[in-house]
Amino acid sequence: MVVNRIAFAHGEIFRVVDDFYTRIQNDPVLQIPFRSVGDWPEHIERLTHFWWVRFGGRPYLFNHYNPVMKHFFAGFNRELLARWLAIFHDTLKTHLQPEQAELWALVSSRMGESLALRNELYGQEHGS
Ligand code: HEM
Repeated sequence: MVVNRIAFAHGEIFRVVDDFYTRIQNDPVLQIPFRSVGDWPEHIERLTHFWWVRFGGRPYLFNHYNPVMKHFFAGFNRELLARWLAIFHDTLKTHLQPEQAELWALVSSRMGESLALRNELYGQEHGS
């Protein structure tokens, strides 16, 4: 897939996502909210698909995500988000060319900001 003339192969996306969630499972803080994930290979496949489609790839799995509610109940907050993004950006640098890593880091930071705002709204609407 090509975004701003930067290409992402499906295999590259898979390798990033796979390594990232291995790091998450070994992180003393983030492994706690991620205990809700019962089937890691399935989660990794789902999130590979999520990023593939975000970068313009053709959907090939059942394509419905409900991130706001799921994150709210996983205890998402800005502190966890900052840690998530630091690990994610490190993983990007390990596997990709600098310009690919930079673009994906930017996209993930923006998504994180949007998730944080929607998480706060969800909390207000549901009385927390
Ligand atoms: C930019 C940052 C993030 C992005 C783009 C992101 C994206 C996603 C997506 C797309 C899903 C799948 C949702 C679905 O299946 O409907 C997911 C699941 C999940 N995320 Fe995140 N996430 C981010 C940050 C975080 C953070 C900081 C936490 C810490 C609480 C977190 C915890 C989880 C958990 C526990 C799940 C699994 C939920 C479940 O399947 O029960 N995520 N994330």
